[in-house]
This record gives sequence, structure tokens and C-alpha cells, in this order.
Amino acid sequence: MNPKILVIPGSNRSGSFNVSLAAAVSVELARQGADVTRISLIDYPLPIVDEDLKAASGIPENAMKLGRLIAAQDGVFLCCPEYNSSIPPLLKNMIDWVSLISKDGDRPFRPWAGRFVALGSASDGKLSGIRGLYHVRSVMMNVGTQVISEQCSLGGASKGFDEDGRIRDERTQSMLEKTCAALISHCVLMNRR
Ligand SMILES: Cc1cc2nc3c(=O)[nH]c(=O)nc-3n(C[C@H](O)[C@H](O)[C@H](O)COP(=O)(O)O)c2cc1C
Repeated sequence: MNPKILVIPGSNRSGSFNVSLAAAVSVELARQGADVTRISLIDYPLPIVDEDLKAASGIPENAMKLGRLIAAQDGVFLCCPEYNSSIPPLLKNMIDWVSLISKDGDRPFRPWAGRFVALGSASDGKLSGIRGLYHVRSVMMNVGTQVISEQCSLGGASKGFDEDGRIRDERTQSMLEKTCAALISHCVLMNRR
């Protein structure tokens, strides 16, 4: 069975480089045989994570929807902007809300647990957002996912994609292909167990 992989860009900005990266990642994952779903967090608006809000009204419906979608996958590919060398609030807030889910109805439910995760970043800067991925990696390990070693970062992103949305730089494209291949092989191996 083809591994199911969810691709999530951590930006809702119009013209987002990480949305473009997520599109390139999705094409590559599909080319390598994955069953790909790409979403936009714009379709899942969430309040700032708040334990009082959770106590009063439970997990927001959009966080539950995301949690169910994540749990239905073998892997997740996060395309992460870098804000002040770290994780942007849109992405962190989503990760935090989903991490607060512990049941779905009466059933114990931990959407992040056991998912394989690959990381990518895009920035117009020379450092390509790679410093932020260190923090994203740490957060994702904390919520119980298995973050793969391979990752992919695109610097100079405003000129980084051609008219067809492909990454122009061969080395970066090769890094993206290797990251996708590693994520798929982890998912396939897990399904065989
Ligand atoms: C608050 C803030 C902090 C930022 N800090 C960094 C940074 O540390 N490194 C970097 O490369 N870009 C930084 N940027 C620029 C983002 O990389 C840039 O806005 C990028 O386009 C965001 O990703 P997106 O195109 O997917 O929306 C920052 C942007 C904002 C709004």
C-alpha cells in the first residue's frame, strides 16, 4: 500500500515560499509513489492555545479535524518559515493544539504519536531557514513523532522556483528528493512491521 503523507506549509502568507516548497514536495512525494494530501492552515483557523479555553470548551473543532487528518497518515512533511531563528507562531500553535488532544469521544487518541515527520524550510535569506528547523525538530520530538534526519532547506527563495514551481538549484532539489525518499521508506518499513 502506498504510504499516506500529509504536507503542511507553516505559512498562510500570500506568495509564501513555504507554500511553494510544499507544492514542490507534494509533486516529488507523489512521483515517488506516496499518496499525498496537502493542506493550508488557512482552512483550520485556531485561537491562540489556551488551557482555560480548553477547560471551558474543550479542543477546538479545527484542531480535532487536524488531529484526525494527521492520525490517518503514515507521515507528515512540514514546510517551515523561520521567525527569529525559530518556529513561527502559526505552526507552533497548531502543533500545540493537536498535542493537547488525548481522546476522541471515549477513545484514547494521540494524533502525533508515532507519525514520521520530515522537515523543510524556505527563506529568502542565505541561511535558508535552517536555524528554525532545529527548534521545529525539538518540538516535534517532544510531541511524540519520529523526525527523520534528512531535511531540505531553500535559501534565496524569491528566485528559487522556476515557472513550473520546480526548485532551480540542483543541490537543493536533490536534497528535497532524498528527504522525500527517506520519509517514504520509513513509512513503508513501519507498515511492514
Ligand atoms: C517576525 C519575523 C521574523 C523573521 N525572522 C527570520 C529569520 O530569523 N530568518 C529568516 O531567514 N527569515 C526571517 N523572517 C523572514 C521570513 O523568512 C519571510 O517572511 C518568509 O517569507 C516567511 O516564509 P513564507 O514566505 O513561507 O511566508 C522573519 C519574518 C518575520 C515576520
